[in-house]
Amino acid sequence: MAKIPEDVIETVRTATNIADVVGQYVQLKKSGKNLFGLCPFHEERTPSFSVSEDKQIFHCFSCGRGGNVFKFLMELEHVTFPEAVIKVADYSHVDLASEYRQDAAGPKMDSKTSQLIDLQEQAAKLYHHVLVNTEVGQPALDYLHNRGLTDDTIETYQLGFAPGQRLLKPFFEERQSDYQLLRQSGLFIENAEGELRDRFTERVMFPLRNASGHVAAFSGRLMKKADDQPKYLNSPETPLFNKSRLLFNFDLARTAIREAGEVTLFEGYMDVISATQAGVHNGIASMGTSLTTEQIYAIERTTDKLNVCYDGDEPGQRAISRALTLLGQHSHLNLSVIQLPEGQDPDEYRRAHGDEAFRQMLVSAKEPPLQFNLRFMRRNKSLDTDSEQLDYVNQIMPLLAQVQEPVELDMYLTQIANEFHIDKAALQAQLKQTQRSTVAQQERERPRQQTQQQAPPEPPVTVHQQQRPLTRLERAERGLLIRLLHDRNVWAKVSNLDGFSFVHDDYQVIYTLAQGYFQTHQTYRTAQFTDFLKEDRLQQIVIDLETATYAAVTPREIDDYLAIIMDEAPVEEQLRQKKNQLAEASRLGDAEQQRQLVIEIVQLEQQRQANKQL
Ligand code: UTP
Ligand code: MN
Repeated sequence: MAKIPEDVIETVRTATNIADVVGQYVQLKKSGKNLFGLCPFHEERTPSFSVSEDKQIFHCFSCGRGGNVFKFLMELEHVTFPEAVIKVADYSHVDLASEYRQDAAGPKMDSKTSQLIDLQEQAAKLYHHVLVNTEVGQPALDYLHNRGLTDDTIETYQLGFAPGQRLLKPFFEERQSDYQLLRQSGLFIENAEGELRDRFTERVMFPLRNASGHVAAFSGRLMKKADDQPKYLNSPETPLFNKSRLLFNFDLARTAIREAGEVTLFEGYMDVISATQAGVHNGIASMGTSLTTEQIYAIERTTDKLNVCYDGDEPGQRAISRALTLLGQHSHLNLSVIQLPEGQDPDEYRRAHGDEAFRQMLVSAKEPPLQFNLRFMRRNKSLDTDSEQLDYVNQIMPLLAQVQEPVELDMYLTQIANEFHIDKAALQAQLKQTQRSTVAQQERERPRQQTQQQAPPEPPVTVHQQQRPLTRLERAERGLLIRLLHDRNVWAKVSNLDGFSFVHDDYQVIYTLAQGYFQTHQTYRTAQFTDFLKEDRLQQIVIDLETATYAAVTPREIDDYLAIIMDEAPVEEQLRQKKNQLAEASRLGDAEQQRQLVIEIVQLEQQRQANKQL
């Protein structure tokens, strides 16, 4: 077992800026000294997640999670410490000797999740192999080539083929894979006797990867239409696959989304793949079913601009309308619609017009949601009678009432007045009326909406909001501990004090470990020290201390801290002794001694309580 040595870890750490790594997952905005964003560890609407570039740590003021860059990946991607180091090294282009790699990447079959992932990835490899290297795969390969996909793209997406005859079952049986695991993988169908059969047969296979890039499930497409079977068959929900969470291509697209500053949401896997083929890498798709709030949260963490590019047919148009409503309700995303010609989907468009035209179309066919809605509301309407026209105008008034830009609004009004031969002044009057009733309605809804107002990220002032308030002693101990770590003068002073110790065990343990740390490290660095501490609880304490705001302290204040702690320590020590004696007395059955000790303990407790409340 080649353990990654500390100096190598250090090289990786210093080559990396935590903000860059976190920025891959969270959209960060600068505010004061720190960066803020929506916490990736819990759902929230206002940012309480912060990254300090000075200290190279992250911390969520709301859920309390915090740590250095390795910790971030461990928590987010559920990987071990060495795995996180390797991921960061790869990100920062630090060459790691392969011995460390093998160690971390090797079989660590402890969790069920990683075993399930392993099954999916083996299946993906096998399907892919069948597609590109075998005779039975040839028709499927021709099919994909005919659909305009290159071998490169087929490779990138690890597309595959599930042939008619059984494939996975014998493969996994030979490997003596665990039956329960196979059952849960979603790769098989189980009959009444509990026998497993391959779920996917005669289908072109699309691996569905999760946000970490692991294959979580599959979708299989029939090459020829069959009335009794769905065109795309997806894996069932499994411990790995939650179709309301997964976004197709999100793992590969993330970097491009950040670079482009926007994401394009397609309806189908093939549209996304087709876009990639045309050099557009920031495309994603939901799982066929309509978009979910979970998916919206994931998108909003990565970017603030989204284009909806669904099919140009009637279901596509209705899906755009639904998506816009949902996105409007559940996000602050800046939205656009990319409108395709009637009846075409993005993939068809690319194949009909080529890569270059496809890329141009994504820009030129882009329109604001309002423009889409104005058109959407009049589809299937001839609008050639007065009453139809009036109906339409009434329908769109609430939309126009939301337009903020006077010039833009005037443009729309002129357009409508001209088209339907309506007096523009009358339109304006009606708009005023609509605006008034909209405002009234908003007033009524205000209390509900207030919490959703977008506010610029502001560093929260209080830490430990949900925890108990700190006692005077604890405040002193925390204040002193953070100074001890950061200030060599304070360290020298305290370590020369005879018999000094922290009252709370955790702080004392951190102090003791820090003594070891300073024997091997010249300067204190938060992100390094937390690794040194190893234990999660201790790391958490240090991160809390680091992110609480401690004003610069004077030597006088250090003395005050010390006085409080030293004052308290004897009481704590006496209490400990008395409690031990009490245990001994009850073991011996000495009732008189017990009574005496209980009285003393109560007195000490009271004294301690009094100290703490000061
Ligand atoms: P489409 O029917 O628009 O597929 O469904 P497509 O993207 O154009 O695919 P090709 O070009 O015919 O191969 C869009 C999405 O709806 C889901 C899939 O996620 C698909 O990508 N879907 C569709 C299913 O889950 N099952 C189906 O039977 C059909
Ligand atoms: Mn299509």
